[in-house]
Amino acid sequence: MCCRIKLNIMTPEIKKDIPKLFKVTIDNITVEVEAGTSILQAARKIGGDVAPPAMCYYSALKGSGGKCRTCLVEVVAGSTADPRPMPKLVASCRTNVMDGMVVKNITSERVLEARRGVVEFLLINHPLDCPICDQAGECDLQDLSYSHGEAGTRYEFKRRTFERVDLGDYIQLHMTRCILCYRCVYVADQLSDKREHGVLDRGDHSQIATFIAKNLKNDFIGNVIDVCPVGALTDRTFRFKNRVWFTKPMYAHRDCSKCCGEVTLWQRGDEVLRVTARKNEWAEVKNSTKGTPGWICNECRFDKKKTNDWVIEGLAPLNRHSVISQNKYPGLVMPKETIKKVMNGKEPNLLMDIHEISGVNDPEIKLSEIEGPATSETFEKKSQ
Ligand code: SF4
Ligand code: FES
Repeated sequence: MCCRIKLNIMTPEIKKDIPKLFKVTIDNITVEVEAGTSILQAARKIGGDVAPPAMCYYSALKGSGGKCRTCLVEVVAGSTADPRPMPKLVASCRTNVMDGMVVKNITSERVLEARRGVVEFLLINHPLDCPICDQAGECDLQDLSYSHGEAGTRYEFKRRTFERVDLGDYIQLHMTRCILCYRCVYVADQLSDKREHGVLDRGDHSQIATFIAKNLKNDFIGNVIDVCPVGALTDRTFRFKNRVWFTKPMYAHRDCSKCCGEVTLWQRGDEVLRVTARKNEWAEVKNSTKGTPGWICNECRFDKKKTNDWVIEGLAPLNRHSVISQNKYPGLVMPKETIKKVMNGKEPNLLMDIHEISGVNDPEIKLSEIEGPATSETFEKKSQ
């Protein structure tokens, strides 16, 4: 006990020696960060590919990280005081920088090799059902496997599967897709009064489940949908309504007594198909304009699906290399129309009216208002 007290005492001289800012070099780029910053946050300060991918860490959730190992990096020099390399790769979300630390991320073959292995592990049980998954286009695992994965897998056994479970009226859990990142557990712990779900069982049997099949009823529980990096927790009001890249993300706000009221509306035409929190370039919930984390309440997320519920601010910035950004380029200058010239003055939209050919594009059918996904019946009934 005595020794510990002695170690914790810092004389003014010792304090003076500790620099306020630590210099850390990541992939040959040096950056200065405050003491106590993780390697991951330091790398994010540099940005781009230097920032390791993170599937379980989430800045706004205390205690998150350390579960998935996608953020592994190589520390080739521990600090100026002790420049020895760290023998093993370390989780950058859980390792703090030291002054003079030298780190390799994408410049390390060891890291890239390990990350390929991590992706292969994450995909051992994850189904390859991207073509029908609502998360496709904004799935962190999909992006990770494209950028860091192998083309094939060596896994030959049967994947574990689960029945889909409705967690209350608004959220569906498809456990088969879960990668056990624990983010949703932290959301329930930190944003709701009482957590009613968690990771049950151990090892190969681990699963996200509600205790005794309880519904998750809490004003902020919808945020589990936003933090889930895969399609394991999806918005039941949006499931199978549209591919996300066909929708247009618009920033909007309203006066809300429960949350910041600052959201992204995902519109198709004037219809609001879903409402989410605003995300930053790391796919994490952005701080609101008041500087607090921008979590949104269930009322804003699930009950306010009309454009006149909102003050629309404009197109949401889309920085990520995502299919969602297709056709949504701010400041785009369209090329001069040439078809009109070729077709002797006919307007191109008069050449083919898609609504006459395809009933599923009928603008009179409000996809956001029908119960569940649209089927052929939805369109047949309309034409009768
Ligand atoms: S359901 Fe989603 S957020 Fe929750 S642990 Fe699984 S992958 Fe993570
Ligand atoms: S993001 Fe660091 S271990 Fe998952």
